[in-house]
Amino acid sequence: MAWFPIGTLIWNDEQAEALRPIVQAIKAAGATPGIQIAHAGRKASANRPWEGDDHIVDGDARGWETIAPSAIAFGGDLGKVPTEMTKADILRVQQDFVDAAERAGDAGFEWLMLHFAHGYLAQSFFSIHSNQREDEYGGSAENRGRFLLETLAAVRKVWPEDRPLTARFGVIEYDGRDEETLKESIALVSRFGDAGLDAIDVSVGFSTPTAQIPWGPNFLAETAARVHSETGLPTSTSWFISDPEQADALVQSGKTDLVMLGRPMLANPHWPYAAAKTLGVEDPAWATLPAPYAHWLARYRTS
Ligand SMILES: Cc1cc2nc3c(=O)[nH]c(=O)nc-3n(C[C@H](O)[C@H](O)[C@H](O)COP(=O)(O)O)c2cc1C
Repeated sequence: MAWFPIGTLIWNDEQAEALRPIVQAIKAAGATPGIQIAHAGRKASANRPWEGDDHIVDGDARGWETIAPSAIAFGGDLGKVPTEMTKADILRVQQDFVDAAERAGDAGFEWLMLHFAHGYLAQSFFSIHSNQREDEYGGSAENRGRFLLETLAAVRKVWPEDRPLTARFGVIEYDGRDEETLKESIALVSRFGDAGLDAIDVSVGFSTPTAQIPWGPNFLAETAARVHSETGLPTSTSWFISDPEQADALVQSGKTDLVMLGRPMLANPHWPYAAAKTLGVEDPAWATLPAPYAHWLARYRTS
């Protein structure tokens, strides 16, 4: 599965209208338009990755107040202290997710992913690194999962039954308490399934700058396989999966049902075509490319 992150907005109808022609173009090219909706929580109000990836300094008009489950900064370059959310803030943000999902459905998107990962708002409710609340949204794993589960259930009500609803969730932090976090995460993901989630994308929590992440090819694959087998939910994963044979082996072995690609698609937007050729897919051009490309490559093979 090719993964095209589009950093754009869908918090008003005008923005949704602006996305409509993009949705149409994706469909016309023979692909399925999907959208991920996110709230960046305490990691918001930040500079672009290539311009520092740090918080915009206080007093700079481009910045804004951030909110999070507790008034605890992420740390490192993201040192801005967020405002602790009230119950009213929680309800408002959950309604924002619902409204964004409805707009996305109306605009024609056929797949919706909720961003419950990477230390952004939803993940920060689940992580003990960012959530020290003493109400029903903090403390036990069940309480820390409440924001995510409620948001998912509310979105499921407005997102059409026949269109997939998935979530990306950081199931592990690499912070020295991984077995405990994984067990808590797997229990929560099972409850996502009961709430109508169609598939889970297994990712990393990124809730603390001191995590010791074992970067390297396939490093998350065994974790994804465990989430897959213990929850029974269709599963996808990413991170350093760049080689077609490696991706195919992960799917063929049943460790994951889908492989997501980020940087390999930046490096080569025709990665799926190259992979289809490598893996001996019949009619690789037609299987992976829009007609104006497939026609020429299928008829006048270049290799
Ligand atoms: C330019 C860029 C933008 C990204 N935007 C998002 C995003 O909006 N949402 C998300 O969940 N992950 C995002 N990611 C992370 C990727 O989805 C992916 O998990 C990560 O790059 C690791 O996979 P890879 O090794 O295939 O690149 C982004 C990555 C890149 C390189």
